[in-house]
Amino acid sequence: MSSPAPPDDCEGEGSGGRSLSYGEAEYWDARYVEEGGAPYDWYQRYDALRPFVLRFAPPASRLLMIGCGSALMSEDMVTDGYVEIVNIDISSVVIEMMRKKYFNIPQLQYLRMDVRDMSMFPDESFDCAIDKGTLDSLMCGVDAPLSAAQMVLEVDRLLKPGGVFILITYGDPSVRVPHLNQPGCKWKIVLYILRTYET
Ligand SMILES: C[S@@+](CC[C@H](N)C(=O)[O-])C[C@H]1O[C@@H](n2cnc3c(N)ncnc32)[C@H](O)[C@@H]1O
Repeated sequence: MSSPAPPDDCEGEGSGGRSLSYGEAEYWDARYVEEGGAPYDWYQRYDALRPFVLRFAPPASRLLMIGCGSALMSEDMVTDGYVEIVNIDISSVVIEMMRKKYFNIPQLQYLRMDVRDMSMFPDESFDCAIDKGTLDSLMCGVDAPLSAAQMVLEVDRLLKPGGVFILITYGDPSVRVPHLNQPGCKWKIVLYILRTYET
């Protein structure tokens, strides 16, 4: 993508303003058409995240990549030995592009899906879920707290006992962590503060 800027931490802005569009599928479809399939990783590339990902999710894990976009992260993880990564995104445009790009990599699946309703997957389907930037995008949409709650509850439902949710966010912990504390969710939270990478 042309702009390396992350979504604004627009939590609490409500409706109106440019940042609202990050919460809308139409915005992402148009953006991916404009970018023409060029890969882009928000915030961090896999090599910077690798020590943390390996610590919490070994390569044999069945992994859910939430809001995969056009990122190279899943491809890089397969190169690093990961055996099964199910990638979902609300943008049908990017899902179609990624399916074509990776048709010959059986470790990668791409499905068009809204993270707020992943009912296609049975409970306890995954060892690990990774989100890099998608909760941040939801926080820019209408009904942001509701969307965040739906997402967190779905992730909680889909993780096996002892499963791990790796949330990579631009948001301050003081505004993101409360969204993890949904009724019935008993997360043990480990927080790392990373430097932003230089472009
Ligand atoms: C900031 S981009 C991050 C893309 C990728 N994870 C990365 O690290 O480069 C946010 C992604 O979330 C997707 N997204 C936004 N709302 C979503 C939703 N409700 N369900 C699933 N994906 C969504 C967008 O289409 C976009 O690809």
